Amino acid sequence: MPSIHITASREYDVLVQCGVLKEAGKRIAEVTGIHIAAIISDDIVFQLYGETLKRSLEEAGFQTVSYVFPHGEQHKSLETYENILYFLSEHHFTRSDILIALGGGITGDITGFAAATYQRGIPFIQIPTTLLAAVDSSVGGKTAINLRTGKNQVGSFYQPSLVLCDPEVLITLPEDEYRCGCAEVIKYAVLGSAEFSKGLKETPVREQTERVIEACVTMKRDIVSQDEFDRGKRQLLNLGHTVGHAVEACSGFSVLHGQAVSIGMAVITRAAAEKGICTEKTLQTVLDLLHAYELPTETEYSLSALSAAAMTDKKLSGSMLTLVVPEEIGLCRLETIPKEDLSDWLRAGGIV
Ligand code: GLY
Repeated sequence: MPSIHITASREYDVLVQCGVLKEAGKRIAEVTGIHIAAIISDDIVFQLYGETLKRSLEEAGFQTVSYVFPHGEQHKSLETYENILYFLSEHHFTRSDILIALGGGITGDITGFAAATYQRGIPFIQIPTTLLAAVDSSVGGKTAINLRTGKNQVGSFYQPSLVLCDPEVLITLPEDEYRCGCAEVIKYAVLGSAEFSKGLKETPVREQTERVIEACVTMKRDIVSQDEFDRGKRQLLNLGHTVGHAVEACSGFSVLHGQAVSIGMAVITRAAAEKGICTEKTLQTVLDLLHAYELPTETEYSLSALSAAAMTDKKLSGSMLTLVVPEEIGLCRLETIPKEDLSDWLRAGGIV
């Protein structure tokens, strides 16, 4: 069974294995020795996989309770976070018990933040059920909720005790969600490997899911082990995210995260080509790959709207902003600019 070991302030394994959801109880008990768990999930995922997880936990001797919240980015909120905390408190959860995030990035982020803060920290497990969560957000310990003023504005670094990734659950992913995951996969290809990028063009992600998850998690492991707290190299994982988060905010979150990241990667690569940082061929390769997965590469939002939205981005540090800029496929660099210069980069990226 492919298992990737993550070295950070807490060490843990990411198990990638078809059918592992049915063994979750046994695996979690082996790793943590804990037998009281709260499953946190959204209504759609819980309906699909909640019973399977509960059964597996109960067969392994767990007592379980479940907190289910409505799906959607608008519920990655202070209100849902507060409701989870009261739920845990009313069920007398203590630091000897465990939270299990069953779902995509929203569920993983909000459960992780609740785990990080409830009684100053309670263990938690990530069970990603979207491609995006499997390849990126379930690993590395970034947890967060949104504020009305911006995405992921409140959060912490808090590592899970185990990540259980069952590629079989991705079969039920809606097409849009699958493509969103592919945007994050393409991000890893542009950041880390021309060969991986070629492989994505030749063979659809759906036909090599396990291999793709392993490749992305391995790249993420290497970055997180060097920079868990996002002070340097880890910022590379924000490729496409500055413009992406601005697009999401401008759309009131109707543009999905992966679609927005795809637009963000296209814009920043266009800007890199325009500024002579990468070649036209590199730009074309990035655009071709995004188009191959039917991902968007244009936005209708204006330069002024996107610039204003980007000014609430948490990647701002004082008056400076760090962009991730492709030099070639498999190699990107961090470019720290005065925040006023973002408009110039957006213009170079084709935004009017
Ligand atoms: N998703 C970006 C990171 O984990 O740093």
